[in-house]
Amino acid sequence: MLTKNKITAISNGSNVCADIVGFDFNDYDAQDVAEVRKIWFQYGVVRFRDIDITDEQHIKFSHHFGEAVIHPKQLQEGAHPTQKEILVIANTTKDGKPSGALGNSEATWHTDTWFYERPPAGALLRAIALPPTGGDTYWVSMYQAYETLPTYLRNAVKGRQIFFQSVYDAAGGLRLNKQEPKSDDIREWPGIVHPLVRVHGDSGRQALYLGAQGVREQDSWIVGLPMDESNDLVAQLWQHTLKGEVFVQKWRLGDMVMWDNRCTMHRRDSFSPEHIRIMHRTTTAGERPV
Ligand code: SIN
Repeated sequence: MLTKNKITAISNGSNVCADIVGFDFNDYDAQDVAEVRKIWFQYGVVRFRDIDITDEQHIKFSHHFGEAVIHPKQLQEGAHPTQKEILVIANTTKDGKPSGALGNSEATWHTDTWFYERPPAGALLRAIALPPTGGDTYWVSMYQAYETLPTYLRNAVKGRQIFFQSVYDAAGGLRLNKQEPKSDDIREWPGIVHPLVRVHGDSGRQALYLGAQGVREQDSWIVGLPMDESNDLVAQLWQHTLKGEVFVQKWRLGDMVMWDNRCTMHRRDSFSPEHIRIMHRTTTAGERPV
């Protein structure tokens, strides 16, 4: 069947992200969405450029990729004044308080809300205001990370599960409604256990699942391993992953990037507090990792 729009993926030189051209956000049908989904599954990250859409169009488009998920920061400083499905990522303030999440700081490597039982499948991030420099966002493929593991690491991760603590966020701050743990042993903290290698619910491909590289010395434990062995293996897996291809997004107004949290990780650079950066993000529901 022919799609209504002439949607194609064009290479931007990356194997992790493709640019989608020809998608008309004012006039599209189910077949057009299916085309986008196909390209998204192939790359893990897709970018739309030179688009001019409203928050309502952004939300409506996101619904085609899953139910909306409310990110925890939407219950705090990242709440949008009128659109409950939008997370505002910004360094702006209102009445002396932050009116966006993350401020101007770096966000370390992570996949979204990895400490949830059902982490989200996707996120769609749209540039609203940008600083002249800084605030670039980066993605790596966790398919690629898994598929290129040397044999000894592939054997080491086989059948393993990983525990992620859910008390502190990746920046080291206490999460909403959490208290300082009494024990130093993270294995006794609240958290979640997920497979270390997960199978993507739609593509069926295997991807390494590392959660986040927080600022704390330790945030995860490979279940069943002595702590020092777990720390060593986790460190090796991160080192291997970050040797892979990284897609660097230098934002332009008119950009919207959509990524798959089941098979990618991302981070972003800090930027000067003298400049304003505002991004609007929607998040879509995912499956429990298996
Ligand atoms: C995020 O969703 O982790 C933030 C990405 C960004 O601000 O570029």
